[in-house]
Amino acid sequence: MDKVVIYGGKKLKGSVRISGAKNSALPILFATLLTDDKCKIKNVPVLADIKTTVDFLNFIGKKTVRKENVVDCAVSSKLNHIAPYDLVRKMRASVLVMGPLLARLGKVDVSLPGGCSIGARPIDIHLDAFKKMGASIELKEGYIKIFSKDRLVGTDIEFRFASVGATENVLLASVLARGTTRIINAAKEPEIEDLANVLIKMGAKISGAGTKIITIEGVEKLSGFIHSVIPDRIEAATYMISALMTKGEILLTKTNPAHLQVIIDKLIEAGADIKVSGTTISVKYKKAIMPINIKTEIYPGFPTDVQAQWMALMCLAKGNSIVEETVFENRFLHVCELQRLGANLKIEGTKVYIRGVKEFSGAPVMVSDLRAGAALVLAGLCATGKTEISRIYHLDRGYETLEKKLKKLGANIKRIS
Ligand code: EPZ
Repeated sequence: MDKVVIYGGKKLKGSVRISGAKNSALPILFATLLTDDKCKIKNVPVLADIKTTVDFLNFIGKKTVRKENVVDCAVSSKLNHIAPYDLVRKMRASVLVMGPLLARLGKVDVSLPGGCSIGARPIDIHLDAFKKMGASIELKEGYIKIFSKDRLVGTDIEFRFASVGATENVLLASVLARGTTRIINAAKEPEIEDLANVLIKMGAKISGAGTKIITIEGVEKLSGFIHSVIPDRIEAATYMISALMTKGEILLTKTNPAHLQVIIDKLIEAGADIKVSGTTISVKYKKAIMPINIKTEIYPGFPTDVQAQWMALMCLAKGNSIVEETVFENRFLHVCELQRLGANLKIEGTKVYIRGVKEFSGAPVMVSDLRAGAALVLAGLCATGKTEISRIYHLDRGYETLEKKLKKLGANIKRIS
């Protein structure tokens, strides 16, 4: 298994181009199942999860090819309605196959995705929504078998929690349903808006994406599209934090600053000098890292996907701070690894109490999940000595050419296969 070795202490300087958003590209790729026409998706990050999804679409019957950052889907014919375990277990986002196949075929069998390291990740909100739209659901031999005798029927669907995936799945199911669907308490993340913009390009009738209530008028048929994926706000936040932690100065290009307001505000409070101009954001270390508490929330609150990276930053703050996680029930797996690097942390329920220390000192550590891995890389970049990070396949799922981008910024990092 690959690992990376980092010799910390280098100030990161220079510019980094932010890639397309993984969490936008994935639902958009599944949306191609809603049409038999050709589709072209640009600014797609080269990541393991994208490869998994391309393989998945080909298995289902939508011939799909990726060349660098462009994915082309050919005209498709017959679609297969079964999503097998060996594909679903690799990537939880595979559950997004349910909406499109229910809409097109009236049936879909998806292997139960199982939990992952950050939590049980149930899909009850998704399944309740499909039932409300007229589908019946059966659990058999580890598969969720969803079936709707007739065309799905639009209706009001109120979410108990503003789930990102459930909002995407209901969007993907309702665009071809009969009548009007209203998602009440919908997720408002930018990735939801990006998906809705693609569906509208395909001929769907959607209003309110990005707000709490999304209204979808079902149509008969959807056509192909060409679309460029929005920038990855989580990747951008990660590099912004790296500038402060390494006492450097980084210019991020191809960003969408409007998606990063809470990160910009919090980093300025933490002592960063930040300048925004068009699609670029420059982040410069000034004189210290100030202790700033954060609590993760749904968008536009502080993103749970930046919680681990923020914790790594606060480990070096001049004082004590608190990080609270309210979205996932088990997203503190990076705490014990950061402690191995010298952090002073204490978990109490949904909170971690952080006492700032002078520096990290390098050590061998292990990645448990994608964003925990990012936190360990950040810590290694500014630790004294050598940090060896194993199980970095988690990182390959969410950060395009991570070592290359970091090396270009001056980091001493190399991958060992
Ligand atoms: C998406 O996951 C992202 N993944 C996650 O990013 C991100 O952390 C999450 O949204 C929250 O922003 C993709 O977009 C591919 P949720 P998703 O449904 O859709 C509970 C990364 O690092 N829940 O909003 O799975 C769930 O257990 C990944 O890129 C239910 O209880 O997130 C969790 O506690 C990690 N029942 C909370 O809601 C359901 O039916 C948030 O889940 C659905 C969700």
